[in-house]
Amino acid sequence: MDKRDFLRGLGGCSLAALLGPTAWARWAQLAPQELAQAGEFWGELRAKYRLTSEYINLENGYYSMMAQPVLEAFVERVREVNFEAARYMRTRAESERTTTRAALAQLAGCPLEELALTRNTTESLDLVIAGHDWKPGDEAVMAEQDYGTMLAMFDQQARRHGIVCRRVSVPLHPRSDEELVELYARAIGERTRLLMVSHMINITGQILPVAKIAAMAHAKGVAVMVDGAHSFAHLDFAIPALGCDYYAASLHKWLGAPLGAGLLWVRQDRIAKLWPLLAPPPGRADGDINRLNHLGTHPVHTDLALRAAIEFHRELGPARKQERLRHLQRYWTGRVRARPGIVLNTPEAPERSCAIANVGVEGLAPAELARRLFEEHRIFTVAIDSAGVRGVRVTPHLYTSEAELDQLVAALVALAS
Ligand SMILES: Cc1ncc(COP(=O)(O)O)c(C=O)c1O
Repeated sequence: MDKRDFLRGLGGCSLAALLGPTAWARWAQLAPQELAQAGEFWGELRAKYRLTSEYINLENGYYSMMAQPVLEAFVERVREVNFEAARYMRTRAESERTTTRAALAQLAGCPLEELALTRNTTESLDLVIAGHDWKPGDEAVMAEQDYGTMLAMFDQQARRHGIVCRRVSVPLHPRSDEELVELYARAIGERTRLLMVSHMINITGQILPVAKIAAMAHAKGVAVMVDGAHSFAHLDFAIPALGCDYYAASLHKWLGAPLGAGLLWVRQDRIAKLWPLLAPPPGRADGDINRLNHLGTHPVHTDLALRAAIEFHRELGPARKQERLRHLQRYWTGRVRARPGIVLNTPEAPERSCAIANVGVEGLAPAELARRLFEEHRIFTVAIDSAGVRGVRVTPHLYTSEAELDQLVAALVALAS
């Protein structure tokens, strides 16, 4: 099979190809805020997903399904890699992986030399946490609302290397960015080496002012690691603009990529200082980002299909996607925020949240609320009952319709009355 055949099918996921060039050109003229409310366009896009009629899926924060064209590209890549087998692995796997990384680096707004492909956020962040050169008594700062297994990885370093973990608690409804910056600043001491901050808190959807927190931490000589599991391909930003040292994301969440795809961005001058989780082949320079993500033999077709997901995402455009996702969240939260008995655990200011929000109903435990939403109203969410947050997390995605959110609103109102 020649290379052109092999690459065939990686294209075809652009909106011009999917909706027709004339139709897409017409929609693309609208400003992102206008397009966000153009139901006809989103209805056409929704048709590119295979959705169940059994229930409304509002748990896209865990894993977001691929659009059908991306899924088809993925299946095709599985077939092709299987067909060429070891010859593909020996002759092309590495260069194809670099091509995929380059497409991702372009999307992330960062140099290729600073971006590694990983399997998920967990692998990326754990690599940084465990790869740090910890000394006994060193300190790390994080939040109670950060992801559980990352906190567990820091605790493991505490047991192994004698480091001290300091946890702040992020308020559900902060009054200002300064309040949040100050919260993290107060936890930094003489021995603080690393600060972890979530770009978007997974249990509430709250967006944190990471660039301001990073600037404050750097002024105190502390490195900053951003958990971007929920921000990449969701919010419109370039990774280096966050001003952090490390950034990690899962691509099977907001990019709509196949399961098991993630990224790790490391600022150039930090690469040589990290210990890889798995030792790379000999001969890699200390400053080579590929030193950090040696995996051994792994499902390379996932990396290949990433290009289809990138193409689908890129043409829709980060700004249009962000505005639609924010519109969906504000569409339903705006209808329940003032209702008696309903408690929103996500800040109201538009810049402090996007697609994800968390809602509770007074008198109902989160697990009971999630159960009744599913059993009585066929709405799938996830219960959250930790770190001061009691409710269900509601996460729409590009294919979610306003009619589905009307059903959510009606269900919440019924459950609260
Ligand atoms: C904030 C945050 N960090 C890390 C992770 C871990 O992501 P993954 O399981 O894809 O590694 C998640 C998963 O939901 C998350 O929400």
